[in-house]
Amino acid sequence: MEVRDLIQPYFVIEGKNKQENIKYFPGVKRLSIDNLINDILVIKNLGIRTVLLFGVSRRKDLFGSHAYSESGVVQEAVRAIKRQIKDITVITDVCLCGYTTAGHCGILKARNKVVFDKEKTRKILAKIALSHAQAGADLVAPSAMMALQVKAIREALDKNSFKGVGILAYSAKYASSFYGPFREALNSAPRFGGRSSYQLDYRNAAGALKKIEQDLKEGASIVMVKPALSYLDIIYQAKQKFNVPLAAFNVSGEYSLAQTGAREGIFDKRQMVLEILTSIKRAGADLIITYHAKEVARWLAT
Ligand code: PBG
Ligand code: ZN
Repeated sequence: MEVRDLIQPYFVIEGKNKQENIKYFPGVKRLSIDNLINDILVIKNLGIRTVLLFGVSRRKDLFGSHAYSESGVVQEAVRAIKRQIKDITVITDVCLCGYTTAGHCGILKARNKVVFDKEKTRKILAKIALSHAQAGADLVAPSAMMALQVKAIREALDKNSFKGVGILAYSAKYASSFYGPFREALNSAPRFGGRSSYQLDYRNAAGALKKIEQDLKEGASIVMVKPALSYLDIIYQAKQKFNVPLAAFNVSGEYSLAQTGAREGIFDKRQMVLEILTSIKRAGADLIITYHAKEVARWLAT
């Protein structure tokens, strides 16, 4: 496992000199753009080359319109990073759950049932992705699990002369109990219903491989398996079957398990985290998105 393979996620908020703690997410903070820049400078010095940005919106509406606003927090953050820091790859999350009042990953047809207006959702996701590309994102990462989202985004980028902007597709994303701290960070838990109608069932392996195959057909540059630790078999199979750039998301709940367990004195944190990340690499992930990234980079630097 090498530091250069780790991707550091960030939660970005509006304002100046702000940092907020997040419940059940020890050591992870929501940062305003100025603090984000300072932190990226630190991790870059430690050898991390890539960041993944999540915008925290406190202005939610039915259509998630804040997600594609030119002056949205992610768009501003990307512009600031690109202005101030050289040689850092910026990936942006493209989804609606953090921006809509219902807290679902797409646009709903009715107000209290999890039935999507797929056409409209794809259009808006493409609009979000395009706004991130215009701000300077190197890759966009659609995480809504909406059918044909990669195709819609690829087309929108190509049409607007962003052929060079890649797509990191959250292809095999399971409905998981490991997302709790993340939803707290974004205040993006579904207000009703769950996500099991559009995220994968953890009993199902074949479905994940199909999703990956489909996303590759639609033009994904990198595919992802998420979460990581309970899905090492999926990572392994995906790598064997497709041999394309593969990312794994070591998600918030996996992170918090390790961090709180170590804090309680149950585990040696360093040994345990290195074992976890190495196993994800061993299974076949080329890149690992992990909240442990900065800490690991520090350990490996000294
Ligand atoms: C949904 C999304 C999720 C995560 C990132 N984007 C899962 C969800 O809320 O269903 C989870 C990441 C993590 O737990 O670290 N668009
Ligand atoms: Zn979502």
